[in-house]
Amino acid sequence: MSDLIIRIGGEGGEGIISAGDMVAQAAAHSGLNILTFKTFPAEIRGGYAMYQTRFSTETIKSEGSGFQVFCAFNQEALDNNMEELIPGTVLVYDYPGGDIKEEVKIDGVTCYNVPMSRIAKKDLEMYRAKNMVALGALSELFDIDEASVRETIQGKFGKKGEAVVNTNFKAIEAGSSYIKENHKKTDQYTMGKSDKKMDDVIIISGNDAAGLGALIAGCDFLSLYPITPATEVAIFLSKMLPRKNGTIVQAEDEIASLGNVLGASFGGAKAMTSTSGPGLSLMQELLGYASMAELPCVVVNVQRGGPSTGLPTKHEQSDLFMAVHGGHGDAPRVVLSPENVSDIIDIMVVAFNISEKYQIPVLVLSDGSLGFRTESIPAPDPKSYTIVNREKMTDGQAEYKRYQLTKSGVSPISIPGQPGGNYICTGLEHKESSAPSFAPADHVAQSDKRFKKLDDVVKDSLIPAPEKQGDDDAELGVMSWGSTMGTVREAVDMAIAEGLKVKALHSRLVWPVPVDVIEEFAKGCNGKVLIPEINYQGQLAEIIKGKTSLDPISYRQCDGLPMSPENLLAKIKEVL
Ligand code: COA
Repeated sequence: MSDLIIRIGGEGGEGIISAGDMVAQAAAHSGLNILTFKTFPAEIRGGYAMYQTRFSTETIKSEGSGFQVFCAFNQEALDNNMEELIPGTVLVYDYPGGDIKEEVKIDGVTCYNVPMSRIAKKDLEMYRAKNMVALGALSELFDIDEASVRETIQGKFGKKGEAVVNTNFKAIEAGSSYIKENHKKTDQYTMGKSDKKMDDVIIISGNDAAGLGALIAGCDFLSLYPITPATEVAIFLSKMLPRKNGTIVQAEDEIASLGNVLGASFGGAKAMTSTSGPGLSLMQELLGYASMAELPCVVVNVQRGGPSTGLPTKHEQSDLFMAVHGGHGDAPRVVLSPENVSDIIDIMVVAFNISEKYQIPVLVLSDGSLGFRTESIPAPDPKSYTIVNREKMTDGQAEYKRYQLTKSGVSPISIPGQPGGNYICTGLEHKESSAPSFAPADHVAQSDKRFKKLDDVVKDSLIPAPEKQGDDDAELGVMSWGSTMGTVREAVDMAIAEGLKVKALHSRLVWPVPVDVIEEFAKGCNGKVLIPEINYQGQLAEIIKGKTSLDPISYRQCDGLPMSPENLLAKIKEVL
């Protein structure tokens, strides 16, 4: 198989994530492209946890549909995945001696039992090693590179002591031996290898990639309040920023964190914060301040299921309305949304560039699936990126007007201490000089100034132009945003391969809406456009409806999971 998905499911705290990570690392070290998906409960222990790795010799665009191999650690995991255990799939499960009380037989499904719990408890006297018994069995069955698994065990558990590492090595051997001694392989799946040179490849998560993109962009200040699923962005930057004399501040809450960011930006730093939905809600008032004071800043929002504390560890794309329209007053901002891990790096650089160039807040909408996902991607070359810095006030000006009315709406910004560059920076409306003003003419003129920037942003070549997929004269166009763009790419490829007349448009710029490009795209398919997205209200569809002449067909999913290409393909067929 050139494209395979191995899913592992069990209880949170049983080491599902560690085992899944090791499968992913081994596949990547074998030169294969990988894309992982993990989902777990909000509790530290208990509840259903799942980790799947898709690996392929080809480029991987999404999490895929279903799995070929499923490894069940307990009955709940087995029950949750029963529907997807279809003929042709393989089940590896903990039996006897574990939570699954009966031998499993499913028509057309190859089932291999392994007494994972029993071996871990009785033979190894370390229940925690159950996941490595499973991994040993999977390695034997699907030819997973054992050397890589051992290396990852050493790296991951080394700090827990030699005894722990050795027991885990024994667990791998025990799982592998059980398969050799008790089963004959009857399925056709193996991990395989690729000749791809690994020198130019990095294995990185979406959240780490957001941090990496920020570093490339020249970010030197991060303030945050930790929140799932965004915290890893800050963990990555907390290791990296100090190396370049950057600063990281863990604030007392999200309001303070954006306040810190705006202070740093006022002082001349390239500054950002990372958060998730509830945190972005708290930041709304200060986002308005950033618009009013025209202070560059980048906010990465790794979306999760809402509203309120909602589904803290689950995937959703439901913060679009808030990102675009949140807060009070007329407060312009730019919203970008990356498609995959590699794209996050690029989009973070774009976000800083746009924010600096236009002195406007830029929000980057990532999501739980993308933030937690690991991919093997080409190593980025920092030197290949265009880096833009804000236009600064030139020294020695006779009369500096911070909010001077210019053709572009952008006026040079001074840095505190710059001779002649004093100005008043507040959330109040102001005159060109920056002095507070409530005069009607000033509010109109300064609102015009702030919003004028969006006319240029939408045409700015710093933002990747929306990409087209398929023939112009298709019968149906598909558009989405964020990580669902990958699902669209894959489903549209599948549809075209089946002879269906479908095309897609992939835009990283979500707000301001690239109206002209969308209208042009829709013309070729007589305005018939489908918008799949992971939220209840069809938020992008509503925004497109409001801003263009289109009346899109909205396709919504909000079950805490990414959309599968097969489901989207079925919807495309239904619409056609
Ligand atoms: N030998 C030794 N240690 C092992 C092991 C083995 N074979 N397998 C796993 N472990 C350790 C891991 O190293 C990890 O320890 P650490 O915490 O010191 O790193 C621990 O056991 C948990 O294993 P892991 O594989 O990382 O996770 P899991 O699959 O058991 O799932 C989580 C646990 C991650 C789902 C859960 O702990 C969690 O974090 N839940 C989410 C909490 C959250 O974000 N809530 C939202 C708040 S708003």
